[in-house]
Amino acid sequence: MNEDAKTGGTDAQETLIRWKTDYWKDPAVVEIYSRLMREDKGVTRLKNALEVGLCREHLAGERILDIGAGTGRASLPLAREGFRVTAIDSSQAMLDQYRAEAGETPVELRVGDARLLEFADGEFDTALGLNVLVHFPNWRDILAEWRRVVRAGGRLVFDLYSQDHVDAVQRSVGLPPDWSHRDKRFVSKATGEVVDGSLMAYLNRVRATELAEAADALGLSIVAVLPYGAVISGSDQNLWRLNTLADQHSWERLLTWLKADARLFEFGLFLEREVAGRLATPAADHCMVVLENVADPARNAAWLMWHRELSAALACGIRHADLAALVPAFDADWKQRLNRHLDWPRNRVLFHLLWSCFWDHPDSLTLEDFLEPRHLEAMNLWRRHWQMDQATTSALRAFRDAPEFAGRLEYADIDLRGGLEYELTREVLTEYFRAFG
Ligand SMILES: C[S@@+](CC[C@H](N)C(=O)[O-])C[C@H]1O[C@@H](n2cnc3c(N)ncnc32)[C@H](O)[C@@H]1O
Repeated sequence: MNEDAKTGGTDAQETLIRWKTDYWKDPAVVEIYSRLMREDKGVTRLKNALEVGLCREHLAGERILDIGAGTGRASLPLAREGFRVTAIDSSQAMLDQYRAEAGETPVELRVGDARLLEFADGEFDTALGLNVLVHFPNWRDILAEWRRVVRAGGRLVFDLYSQDHVDAVQRSVGLPPDWSHRDKRFVSKATGEVVDGSLMAYLNRVRATELAEAADALGLSIVAVLPYGAVISGSDQNLWRLNTLADQHSWERLLTWLKADARLFEFGLFLEREVAGRLATPAADHCMVVLENVADPARNAAWLMWHRELSAALACGIRHADLAALVPAFDADWKQRLNRHLDWPRNRVLFHLLWSCFWDHPDSLTLEDFLEPRHLEAMNLWRRHWQMDQATTSALRAFRDAPEFAGRLEYADIDLRGGLEYELTREVLTEYFRAFG
């Protein structure tokens, strides 16, 4: 039997999977990846804490199989805690790095293929796959194999990207044709090689209905599907943020503070876990999926029904009472904690940038439902300032570009108009409008 036939793939799928698999065998890629993990800064730090924390929380039992383990981000902390960890990866170079980082910590490392596991049925309590299944278009077949090695009642924990998110953003605000970067050619940071964007940027996206169907077909039941990626950037693109203040350089700059500012970091985690993570899959780009190895179609149907209601409520405009009716955790205490986070100035700035996602669609979020008056006032004031600043800048740009000035604001052949509007904006806002007095 050839490799394609054994793993159930088509030629195109196999090319993609082979490329994704081989990519991680390159020592230069391993070096970059492990350095990024070691540095643990900015959004990587948030992503690590969030993803690893979610895996930790949803384990069942002691015997853990980490599939596509890489350098041990998900399972090394578990091995250090005393879990019995077996980790497989198709890249020996990744496992070498895992071993180097593990030191004396007992963990069994094996080269292996995520699609054909060399373990007996029911050998593990939990199968984990972090940032792995996202690369495989044939995710259902792979889940069947992962399920095989998990005992009855054990768990499968893995992440996927959300097609519901893409659909919802497309329906509501539209997406630019190049949003997925798929058609672009990338230059690999590790090798300098030009890479076909359809391979590099491929991340599978799944709908909640498809997940529920797959769970039914495989005899699994849905414990949780937790959206995330509201704040995290990089390959986690919250598409609601496109073309808003949370899609600019200032947003990225703010996120570089995640390592130095513990309160900003805690707020980032709160937004991911206690806001996005409690919503439905349209809310964010990515999600952590927790399945139990028990056939329970009624449980899956109930989950899907709840998910549909929550998605419909979100599409009609985010109001606190509607959310709290479907998600009890959005209670008065949660609201108080949100407002406490906003007492820290940098958190207010982050929130303000995120709130700009809703500005062009005033009915999509009732902010007064969520914020205490002092924060609501600050948000509205900052927004007014922003609007005034934008209006003034664009008026002054038009003034700068007026044909009458062409050639007049020149000195020694240098065009002095560039940047003129920056000088004038401040003057006009402060002196003329007395905007910030
Ligand atoms: C994005 S890395 C994630 C590593 C780790 N789970 C983490 O979250 O840091 C993807 C990993 O999947 C591994 N991988 C790719 N294709 C695989 C396959 N067919 N079987 C097993 N592992 C595979 C790669 O070698 C790489 O280590």
